[in-house]
Amino acid sequence: MNQAISFQDIDAKLQDAPPKDILSYALEEHDNIAISFSGAEDIVLVDMAVKIRPDIAVFSLDTGRLHAETYQFIEAVRKHYGIQVELLFPDAAAVQKLVKEKGLFSFYEDNHQECCGIRKVGPLRKKLLELDAWITGQRKDQSPGTRANIPVIQNDKVFARPGESLTKFNPLVNWSSAQVWEYIRMFDVPYNSLHDKGFKSIGCEPCTRPTHPGQHEREGRWWWEESTKKECGLHIDNVKK
Ligand code: ADX
Ligand code: SF4
Repeated sequence: MNQAISFQDIDAKLQDAPPKDILSYALEEHDNIAISFSGAEDIVLVDMAVKIRPDIAVFSLDTGRLHAETYQFIEAVRKHYGIQVELLFPDAAAVQKLVKEKGLFSFYEDNHQECCGIRKVGPLRKKLLELDAWITGQRKDQSPGTRANIPVIQNDKVFARPGESLTKFNPLVNWSSAQVWEYIRMFDVPYNSLHDKGFKSIGCEPCTRPTHPGQHEREGRWWWEESTKKECGLHIDNVKK
């Protein structure tokens, strides 16, 4: 990227671009880039990206606590697109220590940050040390409390290697859930079967529940906590701002 042009300038230009154009831009600019795929609606990114780069790098953070449906879905995605989905695992010693000291459900008592830190953020941090850029499926409409202002492109200072730059792309930022589902139906994109069981937002099994039609999707995540704290550290830059 031409460093004379700021991230803000590019963001302003890309704000009205459709997600596939943002992805094209991201893949043109970066070879060493990967999609961070949660096994939920962000499947649309994978679908769009394989049409541009058939061997697109995709990784998922396997916390060890995902739903069986999500594991089945990740496997189905691998086969459907003929791509690798790299599974990233947490540090075994850190998980063992947490579970030994606090049990398997400590997040209900002292919040989800510690467990997410070990099971998600640690492995993500390690992976991002290898990359120049990453792509997420974050959308503004997923969380009015924390995601209302996320840009299309950002300089990721949280996870960058010391002295180097890491670019974070959020191509779906301005899409609504309805637009995502329109795309899934239009292009016959495979999706996680939990969506047919009332789950709108999907994370780990103990920390995700279905929502009623009138509820916001984020109410299905870490429902015992305040809405402003509902970021697990993957996107902590949303909270700091
Ligand atoms: S979270 O931070 O609250 O868990 P959310 O479920 O909304 O995130 O997903 C937003 C984006 O974060 C996803 O589209 C994906 O890019 C990334 N993400 C979330 N969970 C994972 C995961 N388990 N593996 C890989 N990426 C993930
Ligand atoms: Fe742990 Fe829940 Fe975070 Fe998953 S979402 S890593 S189970 S606290």
